[in-house]
Amino acid sequence: MMLFALIMAGVVEGIGLTALLPLLQKAIDLPKGSSTENLSSSGADSFITSALSYVGISATVGSLLTVIMIGAILRSLLILIANRKVGYTVAHVATDLRLALLRALLSTRWGYFLGQQVGSMANAAGTEVMRASSAYLHAATALAMAIQAFAYFVVAMLVSWKITLLFMSVATLVLVLLYKMVSKAKRAGRKQTKLLQSLLARLSDSLQSLKAFKAMGRENLADELLSTNTMKLNKALRKQVLSKAVLRGIQEPLLTLLVIVGLYLMLVYLKMDLPKVMVLIFLMARMLNETGKVQRKYQDVAICESAYWSLQEKINKAQQHNEPQGGDKKATLEHGITIDHVYFGYGEQMILRNASLEIPGKTFTSIVGPSGAGKTTLVDLITGLFHPEKGTVRIDGTPLPELDLRSWRRMIGYVPQDTILLHDSIFINVTLGEELLTGEDVEYALKSAGAWDFVSEMAEGMQTTVGERGAKLSGGQRQRIAIARALIHRPHLLILDEATSALDPDTEAAICQTLKELRGQLTILAISHQAALVDVADRVFQISSGEIKLVTDHSKIKEASIDMDHLR
Ligand SMILES: Nc1ncnc2c1ncn2[C@@H]1O[C@H](COP(=O)(O)OP(=O)(O)OP(=O)(O)O)[C@@H](O)[C@H]1O
Ligand SMILES: [Mg+2]
Repeated sequence: MMLFALIMAGVVEGIGLTALLPLLQKAIDLPKGSSTENLSSSGADSFITSALSYVGISATVGSLLTVIMIGAILRSLLILIANRKVGYTVAHVATDLRLALLRALLSTRWGYFLGQQVGSMANAAGTEVMRASSAYLHAATALAMAIQAFAYFVVAMLVSWKITLLFMSVATLVLVLLYKMVSKAKRAGRKQTKLLQSLLARLSDSLQSLKAFKAMGRENLADELLSTNTMKLNKALRKQVLSKAVLRGIQEPLLTLLVIVGLYLMLVYLKMDLPKVMVLIFLMARMLNETGKVQRKYQDVAICESAYWSLQEKINKAQQHNEPQGGDKKATLEHGITIDHVYFGYGEQMILRNASLEIPGKTFTSIVGPSGAGKTTLVDLITGLFHPEKGTVRIDGTPLPELDLRSWRRMIGYVPQDTILLHDSIFINVTLGEELLTGEDVEYALKSAGAWDFVSEMAEGMQTTVGERGAKLSGGQRQRIAIARALIHRPHLLILDEATSALDPDTEAAICQTLKELRGQLTILAISHQAALVDVADRVFQISSGEIKLVTDHSKIKEASIDMDHLR
């Protein structure tokens, strides 16, 4: 649609301009413009005069001016339509790219996602999308200008093809010589794409650990890391601005010089008719002006283009690492979860070796083991974030790969080891924006998680904002909000990964009491070193050296924790 409107604009303008030559001839021969005499010669002027006489209008100054006028108005209208389309399309391109990136990222395999840097992804969704869509805008504008330039070219060819070709060849030579500036800008753009990516990745990393940096008086280290990148970025930006300025600064006078030399040649050497010379010079000046602009716009495209490719690469890679959605069996959890002779490692490093365990449905199971033993990894195998290299994970007897993964995960309430909350209200942090959940549901969940006391005391209650990553709450308060978030969906399986590690014994005991009451309604799997959570469990397993052992005797747990201390 855009292209069609632009081409039509070019055609209309071309037709309008063919009236120039007969107009000037008439104006010079008969200044009053009242004659109906047909001054046709070959080419451009004969076309419009015969077209006018075909519809019964004589080629007077008035009618020719009207043709030019109508051509100009129609051209503006068509360009307006095209630009409107460009606007819509640019917004569309930006939205599509952003959504494609987000969707691809959200559905990647967990192992792939862990290898990505949040800052670099945020940069892709923000800066790179903007630059990519402006590359599109520049390309569309360049195309519009190229079509305009072509319209001038065609009309000029009708007036005098020899002069036009000569002009165009010299102009092309000028543009080719100036291409260096385009490549320079392209390189600067590519550098910026890379630098922005690493700068934002660093920035988000450093800002997330700023507390530790600041508390140790080491924020200057973060500053140094960032400012090196920022200075490099500054240099790339300078190069970009410079190459743009140089291109414009050299291109404009050169093309003007070309027009002046052309004018001189036509008037003095070729002794051409004044009307013809005037029309040709007018057309050449416009054509060269538009062609110069095409090159400058192309330079803008070259600057931004690398952002598009970088973005596209991220989308493609993420799509290649798409997480399989498993089979089509609906998940149930009545009988329990079985880990059957499972082997798993990250790369070379084996974490679980021949590990087996049974978690009967509606029971409370605890897992203990030294740090780095593979407890979180085991949970990741149950939630299907990772898959065993050998052996099977079964849910109610069905191997996990045969289950509809999403239906299985929607049965799980998961409290991760590192509680990170959204910078939003407690209400949103618990419901995660699920619209069906009400204030009563949130209150129930907060009460079950032992969080109601402190939330109800806050001035804004559950509408209180928790700050960046939940920083306005204490560690234990964050944990309880995370437990409420897991409980509100009334899960069939509740997984607590060190979920009470930051709580005082009384609060922890209160949560254990809730969990005790929940036992029988749902399956609970708690990873913990805390005695309270271990005591309340029906079964306790210990992971060490890649193996899982059932520990039923509480005295043995104490031994196990002595072992753990030893291992640490
Ligand atoms: N994504 C990963 N890539 C590579 N190695 C990993 C990854 N995640 C964990 N590991 C390694 O696997 C081992 C087990 O990690 P895991 O998080 O399961 O331990 P854990 O028992 O939960 O420890 P903790 O009690 O400290 O939470 C560790 O040695 C860890 O370095
Ligand atoms: Mg862990």
